[in-house]
Amino acid sequence: MSRISGKGDIVNSDRLQPLVSAHLGHSNVQILKHLDVLTAVSQFNTILCRGGVVLTLAISNQKGGSAKTTTAINLGAAIAILGKRVLLVDTDPQGHLAEGFGLPAGALERELSLVLDGKLSLPEIIITVRPNLDLAPSNIKLSYLEASLFARHRREDKLKNALAAAKNNYDIIIIDCPPSLGLLTVNALSAAESVLIPMVCDFYTMLGVGLLLEVIEEMRVELNPSLRILGILPTRLNRTIHAREVLERTKLELKDRVKVFEPAVNESVRFKEAVAAGKTIFEHAPDIKGAEAYRNLAKEIADGL
Ligand SMILES: Nc1ncnc2c1ncn2[C@@H]1O[C@H](COP(=O)(O)OP(=O)(O)O)[C@@H](O)[C@H]1O
Ligand SMILES: [Mg+2]
Repeated sequence: MSRISGKGDIVNSDRLQPLVSAHLGHSNVQILKHLDVLTAVSQFNTILCRGGVVLTLAISNQKGGSAKTTTAINLGAAIAILGKRVLLVDTDPQGHLAEGFGLPAGALERELSLVLDGKLSLPEIIITVRPNLDLAPSNIKLSYLEASLFARHRREDKLKNALAAAKNNYDIIIIDCPPSLGLLTVNALSAAESVLIPMVCDFYTMLGVGLLLEVIEEMRVELNPSLRILGILPTRLNRTIHAREVLERTKLELKDRVKVFEPAVNESVRFKEAVAAGKTIFEHAPDIKGAEAYRNLAKEIADGL
């Protein structure tokens, strides 16, 4: 077992690797077994070669703070700048997508809970936030609705059915998931054809990604046979040895099975400032490396749309 030191040379680690083997490494024996069936490398290409068909992409990680919303905003904005029509859908009752565009989520009268409850159609709640970039916002009412959905027929299909009313207007629909594996995430994974997993490079998040891969496989078998993993996007990467170890280990474990997008999005306070200002990173700090990472990913995805 080895780790990469700050200077780039290989040194022995007696701390991270045994833990990794015991948790990620061990559980990945199972995960990789699933993924052998599920995610041949060629599937990345399939996903990225759409030939004009709308792509529904869920951005999911049950851990809060893993940059799901930041990725939804900035990936969506970057794809919109490339001239594709993008719809962002917020399935997190925290309403951060609206807040990220400077809209107070709590004050929204038309939001996703009304759509999932059958009271409005999706187009009726959509707000255009930038050229080519639309938003179906949410707020706290979605968590009340989630509780009431449990008793309903086909509760996991509500979002999928709602999206059907808007699909023709977009090249890509990006669904921002909540930090949980509850019914709202199940709805997102049921509606999506593809999942992007933002991952902060720390140990607990890495373990959580192993669990999420298992859940995605379960979803694929039980609910949504066309669900595929687009890849993992390392985010908030800092200069610590630990972060680099986690990134290298993740790449090694998932090699040839789940794509780990590069470059990673570096940690930068500019992302926090951008949200506070209601701006995308391309409006606030377009020249930082993290903005470039989102532009690269956007280009890779948009090329296939
Ligand atoms: N690359 C980054 N560098 C620094 N801060 C970031 C970065 N990406 C996201 N953040 C910040 O981290 C926090 C959590 O990000 P967020 O996108 O809300 O995560 P999630 O939606 O997964 O809970 C927010 O304050 C956000 O501004
Ligand atoms: Mg979020």
